[in-house]
Parts: sequence; structure tokens; C-alpha cells
Amino acid sequence: MIPDEKVQEVRERSSILAIVADYVSLRKAGANYQGLCPFHGEKSPSFNVNPAREIFHCFGCGVGGNVFSFVMKIEGLTFPEAVKFLAKRAGVTIEEHPPTPAEKKRQDERELLYKIQELAVAFYRQVLVDDAAGEAGRRYLAGRGVDAATAEAYRLGFAPDRWDALVRHLERKRVRLELAEKLGLVRRREGGGGYYDTFRNRLLFTIADLHGRPIGFGGRVLDDSLPKYINSPESPIYHKGEVLFGVDLAKQAMREQGAAIIVEGYFDHLALYRAGVRNAVATCGTALTEGHLKLLQRYAGKLYTLFDSDSAGNKATLRAMELVLPAALPAYVVALPAGEDPDSFLNSSGGEAFAERLAKALPIFEYYFRDLLRQVNPGTVEGKVRVVEELVPRLQKIANPVERDLYVKEIVRVLGIDDRALLKKIGASLAPAPGPAQTPTHRREGGHSTEDLLLALMGKYPEVAVKVTEYGIAKLFPPSLVPLAEAIARQSAQRDGVDWAQILDQVMAPEERSRLAALFMDDRHLEEIDAHKAFEQCCQSLQRATMHEHDAKALKRELAQLDSDSERYWEIIKILDSLRNRKSQLL
Ligand code: GTP
Ligand code: MN
Repeated sequence: MIPDEKVQEVRERSSILAIVADYVSLRKAGANYQGLCPFHGEKSPSFNVNPAREIFHCFGCGVGGNVFSFVMKIEGLTFPEAVKFLAKRAGVTIEEHPPTPAEKKRQDERELLYKIQELAVAFYRQVLVDDAAGEAGRRYLAGRGVDAATAEAYRLGFAPDRWDALVRHLERKRVRLELAEKLGLVRRREGGGGYYDTFRNRLLFTIADLHGRPIGFGGRVLDDSLPKYINSPESPIYHKGEVLFGVDLAKQAMREQGAAIIVEGYFDHLALYRAGVRNAVATCGTALTEGHLKLLQRYAGKLYTLFDSDSAGNKATLRAMELVLPAALPAYVVALPAGEDPDSFLNSSGGEAFAERLAKALPIFEYYFRDLLRQVNPGTVEGKVRVVEELVPRLQKIANPVERDLYVKEIVRVLGIDDRALLKKIGASLAPAPGPAQTPTHRREGGHSTEDLLLALMGKYPEVAVKVTEYGIAKLFPPSLVPLAEAIARQSAQRDGVDWAQILDQVMAPEERSRLAALFMDDRHLEEIDAHKAFEQCCQSLQRATMHEHDAKALKRELAQLDSDSERYWEIIKILDSLRNRKSQLL
């Protein structure tokens, strides 16, 4: 935890204009500065920096925030990392609170583990490069056409065909072998008598974290014996659900292109790299997780899956789809000829053929739908029913209602079925399950909610802030916005007005921060507004919205008791829908 005063100090000493200018070339445009957005490809500038408010916003892709959000996104850092990054630049020293003895012990151990992993990488690397014991590895690589420069970039190594090569090396370096055991580099001999090497007679891929620090190995046999790969286990420095192979090599390219390509294997990654495709990462035997997606989303707004064209690859595609649909993350499937993987395809067909396939990638849901139609004959009633059964749970996962609607239309058209029947099936399980009520959101699709506008008005007009405070902040705002509204009310009365960049620090969710940054970017749109009338309107419409929510709650309770075949059920679904729409039209 970095103390708030330090965060404040770093923010005050880091001018957003100066920081952004390191990455984007900016031109003055009115009170703002404009440039080409570094977070999405564009030809005319929609990326804006407001130096007075110390915030940025891109009207093209919607991202926005303060100087910390900018650095987090462009450097792929967490919040504390971004604060430290800027502190260094601004010459602010951050003494972190002294760690507790237990924290200190854990931290020291992690540092040691990094060192030991690094020692192992150097050792195996040296064997591959110029040790007699590395000859088999060198021959294998030559056979697969991997040159020395690529081997160097990937820090490939070779584990000699011996039980104690690494054990002895680590002993010479006075490493405590029980620590090497935690990394899975060595294993304890049964019955006590010391340790032996985990990786023997294998080609080693170095698995690195975001910053390029080695955290594990993937080791391939040189022939077709089994297991084909042995991978390092989870350890205090290697969490498989959060690391993707090659991310350190790819982050720059992923950001520049706004897209990430996900492959399955080490050699697939390597083949793409050699073909000049640098925005790729590999899952390497672990199932894709939400943690992986979060990691990729730091760099890219769009994903391509490029999995082997076999049943395992199809499964992996399905798994990726289940994750990206609820996250509303655009994802596309690059299809390969049957039986091929990216490595074999690039070797046999070359980079141009690959680029063609990439350009023809289908949206993941569409790919899945078409694939389903190939597997199940939709010409029969039985086939149609099967297809629908398969599709419905996936359709329900699509977070974007517009997208879902478009697919429903397409499916109805292709299968020649009645759209009400399909909608009914989808709606039946979309309806709220009895249980804890969902927290209401007052946000309007693509626009600003009443609460948002009221926040901006409070910042611009101190008298509105006073009124809101008197009326009761908690009565007007949902709990998630209360601390923000309170901070704005407090600062609004101050001589310097509201510190918008600081306010944004209190917003944790990136989408919410971007939305508010857009609103706070500029307050000219508020100038025309009669602040007092606006306040009254805000109060009224918020009350109305709350009222609708009460109605909606009662309806949802009723809905839970009803059978989805009854007339009333569909009546309620319709009313709930219109309530939702009405609410979004209140402004
Ligand atoms: P090559 O066949 O040498 O081109 O390697 P590949 O990377 O294409 O391997 P494959 O397609 O068989 O597997 C894809 C990925 O799954 C590999 O890169 C490994 O990360 C992982 N994997 C494959 N086989 C095993 C195994 O036996 N054990 C473990 N733990 N992982 C494996
Ligand atoms: Mn493969």
C-alpha cells in the first residue's frame, strides 16, 4: 500500500501532457490537446488530453482517465506499479511501509526463487550453446529450422541426459535445493538421499512473466516418447492462470496492433515469431482463464484464437468463446486446414497464406455456429432442435444485447424457425432467478446517466453541490457512487475547485473511469444548462428511476413464481423491458 499523500504528490508532479507526449504526438486544439490514440488504430485524431483537468479521453475507443490510468494502460502496469513508475520519473521517493516479518520472509524467498530460476536458465542455455552435452539439442533445433538468434530470443536451453547436471550446478552455486524443489527444477529422491533433476534430455523453453523474468520451463523430448512436454509446476513465482507464454515478447506488438493472437504450443509461438508475427501468446497446455483475458486486455482490445485444427483445438476454441462472450471482448477464429497447427501451416504454406487466413478470421460465435451446422444436419427437425439446444446457453452468454439480437436473427433465418420460439428459450433463462436482487445500474447505453451528469454539475456549480449534500447524497446516488459524490461535494467548495484527476483515482473499474473521464473532460456542455433546474430534474428522474426499480422488483418476484409458458410471464418480460428503456430515456 502506497500512502494517499504519496499518490497525491506523484499525481501533482506528473503532468499528463508531458507523460502522454512521450507516447503520442499532440497538437493543441482549443483548451485540449489532440493526437492519434495509442490504444486503437486510427487515422484522424480522437484522443484528447485536457491539461487543466489532468485527464485524457479518446472519443474513438472510449478509454479515458488520469495520468495513472494512462500509464497503467500503455505500460501494462497495475495501479501501484504505475504510481512507482511515475514516482521514479518525478523524483518522488516512496518508502513503503516496513513489511511484517512474515511478508519480509515471503518476499525474500520469492527474490531467491527468481534468482535460482535465472541460474537454471543460464545453465541450460550454456549447455545448448556450447557444451558437448548440448549436441543433441542443437541437432534437434537445426532439424526444426530454428536458428541461433531465435534460440537466443526465446532463451532456449538444453537439459543434459543426466540425473544430476542441474543439482550439481546448483550445489556449486550454494543454492538450497529445497528452494529449487519449490520451483520444480529438482525432485527429492524417494527414501531421503538428496535430489535429482526434473528436466533430463529435453529442449527447454523459458517461460517468463510480463517483465521478462524467467519463472518456469516447458521441456520437450527430442523423440516421440511420452510425456511430450514436462512443464514447471505452479510455484510462488509461477501462477499458470495469470501467465501466458511469450507475453513479454508480444506486449509491444499487441499494443501497437490492438490485437492478440492466442496459440496452443511453444513451437507455434516460435513459428509465428519467425514469420514476423509478434503479437502472439501461447497457453501451453493450460486452459484459458479469465486471468489470461485480463492480462491480454491490458494490451489489446481484440483477440484471435489460432488453435490446432483437431479436436483438442476445437475444445479450446469453445472454451475461449465461453470466456469472451460474457466479457464482450471481440474475438475471432483463425481456421487452419484439418490436422495442421500454426507451426506446420507456416512451414508448409508460408507467411502470406497465413496472413490470408488471418484476414478471413470469423467472429468466434459465427465460427462456432457454422461449425455446429456442419456437424448437425439442420435439415431435419431433430437436427434443428439439437442446434438450438447447443446454441441457447451460448447465446445467453453474449453480453452485448445488440450482438445477441443479430445472431438470433441470423439463426432464425438459417434454421427457418420462429424467432419467438428461440427468444422464448433464451429469455426463459435470462429472466432473473429468485434470490438476491441484482444491483441496479442507471447507466444509459453509450451515454451518461442522470447520476453522472449530476456529478459533473456538482463539480461545476458549488451551489448544486450544497443542494445535493443537503438533500442527501445517499438518497440520490447508488452506493458505488456515494464516495465519489462526497469527494466532489467537498472539493467543489474549495477555491481551486475539483481535482478531477484525483477524483478519477477513486474509480476502480476501468470502464467506469473511462466513462467519467469523458464526462469530466470538458464542462462546456454544462454551460447552457440552468443548474438549478437541472438539479430538480435530476432529483426527479432519479426518484422516478428508484420508483421503477421498486416496480421492477415486485414484477421480478412475481416472475420467479410463474411458469415460462404462461401469458403473464411474457407480459412481465415486456413490462420489464419497457421499464428499462424508459429509464434510459429519462434524460
Ligand atoms: P510440437 O509437436 O513439437 O510442434 O509441439 P507443440 O507445441 O505443437 O505441441 P502440441 O501441439 O502437442 O501441444 C501444444 C502444447 O500443449 C504444447 O506446447 C505444450 O505446452 C502442451 N503439451 C503438449 N503435450 C504435453 C504433455 O504431454 N504434457 C504437458 N504438461 N503439456 C503438454
Ligand atoms: Mn502443436
